[in-house]
Amino acid sequence: MTSLHEQQRPLSGPEKINGNFRGKDILSMDQFDTRSLNLLFDVTRNMREIAVNAEPCDVLKGKQAVLLFYEPSSRTRGSFDAAMKQLGGQTIVIEDPQHFSSVAKGETLEDTIRTFEAYSDLIVLRHDKTGSLQKAADIAESVPLVNAGDGGQGEHPTQGLLDLYTINQHTERLDNLTGVIAGDLLMGRTVKSLIRGLALYPGNRLFLLSPEKIRLPREDFEEFSRRGVELTEIDNTEDIPPDTDFWYWTRVQKERYLDNLEEYEEVKNRFVVNQELLDRYAGEKTILMHPLPRVGEITEEVDKDKRAVYLESQIRNGMYVRMALLSLVLGKI
Ligand code: CP
Repeated sequence: MTSLHEQQRPLSGPEKINGNFRGKDILSMDQFDTRSLNLLFDVTRNMREIAVNAEPCDVLKGKQAVLLFYEPSSRTRGSFDAAMKQLGGQTIVIEDPQHFSSVAKGETLEDTIRTFEAYSDLIVLRHDKTGSLQKAADIAESVPLVNAGDGGQGEHPTQGLLDLYTINQHTERLDNLTGVIAGDLLMGRTVKSLIRGLALYPGNRLFLLSPEKIRLPREDFEEFSRRGVELTEIDNTEDIPPDTDFWYWTRVQKERYLDNLEEYEEVKNRFVVNQELLDRYAGEKTILMHPLPRVGEITEEVDKDKRAVYLESQIRNGMYVRMALLSLVLGKI
């Protein structure tokens, strides 16, 4: 893992989707507009039918994806793997490349990407060092590269896509929403992609609940505000407004604090969702989301509440959205 001080801000400027996914890297939610999201979500609904009804579909037959994960993952890696296979494609899964690939012998990211590019039609990459995704995409000239998590200060755009899809599925809109986003907003890459996505739609208001030390970076706060999303920072659950459309809780990521565990202990689990908090501040229709894993910030008693979608639709939608994305990027739909 890389120290925070060594990390770089992500580079910007990947190609816009503009309704055409074919062959494009997926690096940032900034590549999307509402038309492209509508197209992706239409295909996602079809993919859901295919998966739920176990309909045979081999649109990705003959296609090979490399899943290269420098950081641990359950959902992102598992759902990309499942998505490829649901559609007749194949995967080469490289987990923990720092120990089980030639990275352990000193191979550079450049050479690793060039190697797997030769064997595949697409590379899905998660890396612990922010900025590595753009770097890898610049190297991979012949295959698209998909960002599955770009360090602690970059993005996780496919999580943002499945989160938007999930919100839309439950609220039937992506505009004029009021939501709470809680936890580590400083180094939470999922929230950076989600807020970018919500900023594409008018009238969205977000209450950002976090300890002051792990607030959204100031430049992100200013940029997202400039894009039109109304942001209000709060540091107490009593300030959560009633009847919001969604709560999006996140984990304080211990792996980002390895050089400052004291600070981790200070900020972790400052805001825990239990049944009492949910009943007191959420509305009847508020959905409770979490990108997972959770490590105590939502108590298990809440799992049975009908508003809790993090173990249900939110996980399943990850596979459907990734089925759609892979099909579109590989030019099969
Ligand atoms: N949401 C998410 O990225 O989970 P994993 O780390 O398990 O992939």
